[in-house]
Amino acid sequence: MDERDEQTECASTSRILSSKRIHIFQRKLLQWYAQHGRDLPWRHTSDPYHILVSEMMLHQTQVARVIKKYHEWLAFYPTLEALAAAPLEEVKQLWRPLGYNFRPERLHQIAKFVVKELDGKLPSRLDELISFRGIGRYTADAILSFAFHKDAPIVDTNVCRLITRFFGVRGDPVRTAVKGEIWQLAEAMVPTGKAYIFNQALIDFGALVCTSRVPACSSCFANEMCMWKRTRKEPMLV
Ligand code: ADE
Repeated sequence: MDERDEQTECASTSRILSSKRIHIFQRKLLQWYAQHGRDLPWRHTSDPYHILVSEMMLHQTQVARVIKKYHEWLAFYPTLEALAAAPLEEVKQLWRPLGYNFRPERLHQIAKFVVKELDGKLPSRLDELISFRGIGRYTADAILSFAFHKDAPIVDTNVCRLITRFFGVRGDPVRTAVKGEIWQLAEAMVPTGKAYIFNQALIDFGALVCTSRVPACSSCFANEMCMWKRTRKEPMLV
């Protein structure tokens, strides 16, 4: 297959992706993760509430800043019930070092609703999760894969960049059609029964290797298969 054919193929749907290329990527990524993956506190739990807290904290906040607050938060509010029972002002105060934003308020609202209406159990369906204000597609899929171990794809900024580069996706990822294509590709990449570990590996690979400004292409296991590496000589700022 020449480069042009492959680019056309990759710009299309998951059904016609080269499954061999994806299998190689999956295997190598999991090998890479076994050696280089980060040991992060939210990777020691499958509690849906703890995963929700970590993902809401990680939204636009660096991992290093989140770790301390995550422990502190769960010591204060170990359960959804504890959070639901706390006064909003106290909740906002505890969140404050992570910035002024709506996240603590939304988290508090979710806790109150789940405790009152859903017997204290976060839903395990995508449509139900994204119906909460404060839970977007990424956070919902992160909960599905990290808490409920479902084969859900995830696309955060890092994963979006990685997929865009690897498959040579063209166009602005903010556009609905391009965004849809990226989600389809993410879905096609998830190995059956392994989303939990694969998604964490994707996150780490995007954060540590396929980085925004200076990606480590020369040491990347995927550089032979990567459309971006094959078609560009200079790193592109994404
Ligand atoms: N950024 C967003 N979600 C993350 C996670 N689960 N682990 C590390 N970084 C993240």
